[in-house]
Amino acid sequence: MLAVTVSDDPCMTPDLKPLRSQRWFAATDMRGFAHRQRMQQMGLRREDVLGRPIVAIINTWSDLSPCHAHLRERAEAVKRGVLLAGGMPFELPAMSLGEVMVKPTTMLYRNFLAMETEELLRSLPIDGAVLLGGCDKTTPGLLMGAISMGLPAIFCPAGPMLNDRYRGQQVGAGTHTRKFWDDLQAGLVSEAEWVKLESRMTRSPGTCNTMGTASTMTAMTEALGLTLPDASCIPAMDAAHPRMAADCGERIVGMIGEQLTPARILSRGAFLNAAVVQMALGGSTNAVVHIIAMARRAGVALELEDLDAVARRVPVIANLFPSGDRLMEDLHYAGGVPALMNRLRNELSLDELTVSGQTLRQQIDGREVIDDEVIRPLDRPVSAERALAVLRGNLAPQGAVIKPSAANAQLLQHRGPALVFDSQPQMLAAMADPDLAVDENTVLVLRNAGPVGAPGMPEWGNLPIPKRLLERGVRDMLRISDARMSGTHFGTCVLHVSPESAVGGPLALVQTGDQIELDVPARRLHLHVADDELARRRAAWTAPAPTFARGWTQLYQQHVTQAHEGCDLDFLQGTAPTPEPPIY
Ligand code: FES
Repeated sequence: MLAVTVSDDPCMTPDLKPLRSQRWFAATDMRGFAHRQRMQQMGLRREDVLGRPIVAIINTWSDLSPCHAHLRERAEAVKRGVLLAGGMPFELPAMSLGEVMVKPTTMLYRNFLAMETEELLRSLPIDGAVLLGGCDKTTPGLLMGAISMGLPAIFCPAGPMLNDRYRGQQVGAGTHTRKFWDDLQAGLVSEAEWVKLESRMTRSPGTCNTMGTASTMTAMTEALGLTLPDASCIPAMDAAHPRMAADCGERIVGMIGEQLTPARILSRGAFLNAAVVQMALGGSTNAVVHIIAMARRAGVALELEDLDAVARRVPVIANLFPSGDRLMEDLHYAGGVPALMNRLRNELSLDELTVSGQTLRQQIDGREVIDDEVIRPLDRPVSAERALAVLRGNLAPQGAVIKPSAANAQLLQHRGPALVFDSQPQMLAAMADPDLAVDENTVLVLRNAGPVGAPGMPEWGNLPIPKRLLERGVRDMLRISDARMSGTHFGTCVLHVSPESAVGGPLALVQTGDQIELDVPARRLHLHVADDELARRRAAWTAPAPTFARGWTQLYQQHVTQAHEGCDLDFLQGTAPTPEPPIY
């Protein structure tokens, strides 16, 4: 049971300011009458909204979001917690970004969800929010909006789907889809077996059970202090999950009483704690874009080099796909994020405040690792390589990233000739060409796949291996793009090249046959083309024409920032106050 602290007068915060919602419900004018009247129209009583903290449950459930299939029910558990604590809950649907179904990419809509969250909270009589999400972009989207609005908010993660096995082997969502697809192309898996595999790897509702972007982001959110302890690893279908959801509902009422806002929690130390957890988990490179966007909303300076510095210090100790060979359920049984953080406590800022009202130190003290094979000791990491390296060079003046722990160690220092593709369809057609001029030393380059160019910076960065090389047993090559890559995937992929090609970044100037050199230990990405030749190519380069003439995508293309800046919209960044709406 969580302690709840509310002012003696529930219409008042501890500093005796009226609760925000009471501007709507306690007003004595005609508008106040209409607000109360419309609540009674729904069968509520006058006193249900008078003198109580009003809690929004922002729910990213939909019938087309399998990772969130259980969140409709979980909202009921949250409501139970809110009501028991003396608050009044209202469920508000928000854009549901199911990673696999939404095209061209959910990343195109992360900022849409962020803006929707901010405006839902701003425009309605809300005192605090429980955020229900978990599939990749829903976590940063919900949090970015909540940070900007600045009301007390707690994140309730959807939780990972259950483990599954195939032929006695653990199989994980995303990771094994790509593995079995490559095996099918190479003739190692039959068509009949491929069909059978469709019903495996995704055994229940819940987020991907590998250390993909969803698990990375929810674990980092726990490390930031924005979830209750243990929340990020509880399997979606475990009875502990609805109990955790009810705890979120109960706790948000206390947070409203304490005016425990994101601004009081999200310090630079909290963001660096999240980065420590990302690196120890072997987390997704996508988290780099999201955490920078969130930090900028919180007014915290966080640069690519800060994350690289953490990655150099912190080894990958969580034995989870794609860096290791276990799944999220195993991490939960091994002690979850609190045990992982306790093992890393010398790397953490322990006095950071969390939504529980406790410090991180209080939350992780005494939390022991239960299974050293899942959460390894620091001197026995899962990989000799780290979870992130930030690269610079004449091909990526503003940075690029790679995940060495999910790459082929032999390719981390590599030089080879470029094979360049201007679009995803062109690249996919070439990969199926049995006569493609390519060998395992070739460096595959994909451009026009960044935030502006694609648009939306889709997860195209794990370029498929050409079919003719798959048949010869090649499973990895050096690949470079301005796209992102799914956190569930394995491959030597240089990602997030910034600035991107569509805005004139050097990637736009590469030609097939140019020599490219990657040197991860030196953090270097170099195009071996003379400066005067690059200048000549730049003079001949013309920017691609804008591809969208209307709607959200046009707005996005005009205002999205580059990968090293977090891909937020330029007018949503920063800490300018969100004005309260006038009520009349
Ligand atoms: Fe939703 Fe992976 S597809 S978490």
